[in-house]
Amino acid sequence: MSITFKAEPSDKLTGQIRVPGDKSISHRSIMLGSIAEGVTEVTGFLQGEDSLATLEAFRSLGVKIEGPDKGQVRIHGVGMHGLRAANQPLDVGNSGTSMRLLAGLLAGQSFTTELVGDASLSKRPMRRVTDPLAEMGAVIHTSEAGTAPLTIEGGQSLCAIQYTLPVASAQVKSCLLLAGLYARGQTCVTEPAPTRDHTERMLQGFGYPVKRKNATVCLQGGGKLTATALDVPADISSAAFFMVGASIASGSDLVLEHVGMNPTRIGVINILRQMGADITLSNETTVSGEPVADLRIKSAPLHGIRIPEDQVPLAIDEFPVLFVAAACAQGQTVLTGARELRVKESDRIQVMADGLAALGITAQPTEDGMLIEGGQMSGGQVNSHGDHRIAMAFAIASLRANGAILIDDCANVNTSFPGFVDLACACGLNLSVQ
Ligand code: S3P
Repeated sequence: MSITFKAEPSDKLTGQIRVPGDKSISHRSIMLGSIAEGVTEVTGFLQGEDSLATLEAFRSLGVKIEGPDKGQVRIHGVGMHGLRAANQPLDVGNSGTSMRLLAGLLAGQSFTTELVGDASLSKRPMRRVTDPLAEMGAVIHTSEAGTAPLTIEGGQSLCAIQYTLPVASAQVKSCLLLAGLYARGQTCVTEPAPTRDHTERMLQGFGYPVKRKNATVCLQGGGKLTATALDVPADISSAAFFMVGASIASGSDLVLEHVGMNPTRIGVINILRQMGADITLSNETTVSGEPVADLRIKSAPLHGIRIPEDQVPLAIDEFPVLFVAAACAQGQTVLTGARELRVKESDRIQVMADGLAALGITAQPTEDGMLIEGGQMSGGQVNSHGDHRIAMAFAIASLRANGAILIDDCANVNTSFPGFVDLACACGLNLSVQ
């Protein structure tokens, strides 16, 4: 179903809110809970389409999962070798994380599985996981273009590898670590730059030893996971929309509760602070091995910056809304080293440049980034191309536009942020569904 958002001008964001649970951690809670021994209790689980696709996939693989009910899930783990063949292909919809991580986990099973996805996911590159998995001995068929559907042949015996990632990707790293659980020997993955480490942290929470030395993370195959309790923090990637919104809308004062502050995810805070944002942390603590805090954001004048390339993997999902921040900043913002944005749920460089241009902003896409001149945004019509984060980024832009913004193709906001429209309106956005 096609959904259009109408975002009309509004002035400020205020109040105290909690955005939904972290998507990356929610996926991993189902995956690891399913292959653990015992019952894993999850709270704060993201009831969005992506993480629900993972949950349904594991039900199809024979795992009893109760919930989700207000973020609570009970997973009756079947142990490392207890998954059963699904009787139909597993459809993971729009979710790249489900497909890439499942590819690794399923490569070591005794049965064959087919993974399918929607039109967007079926265009995204999968050789980045199938090539190294093949080196481990997996047999996976893709389309000729190296895309889904993926058929993962069962009954292969996997061998550990030492692999250096050609791109900084937590999905590829996690895929190989999950395959490594089923491989003979020690699997080691070296990353060119730090990427989110939720898999490593959560494996340790399930009692599975993981060693890190500098940029290399290793685990020994053949161990077991023991069920645990997991509290999923609010997703910093969802919080990011409100961090930018409160920064750009004068008079704003907004508190975001219990947000995940994993150091491999806080690029958005580092970048916004460099641009002049006023963000303070309180109630800092650790839940289920992940740091969390409450964030208070007050509006502040932003200025353009050259975004440090080392922050790119740490803010990889936040660029759509960071481009909106740049459009509202004084001067020029330059992003380089972010070619990966072209293979996300949409080509986020081109789609954002087109949308910003439609709102009167000078935005020059480059092969691996963007140049944006801050200026006055007008109203206009933009297309999210079915990309949840593009849709929400343009909704936030309405805080500084001088006319209504119509945003087409917004249904996929539900993949990561169910309830976005209501929550955004509750703190001051003037947003409706057409
Ligand atoms: C994710 C990793 C990132 C991110 C995605 C979720 C994960 O992808 O963009 O939304 O949960 O591991 P890459 O690791 O491919 O950059």
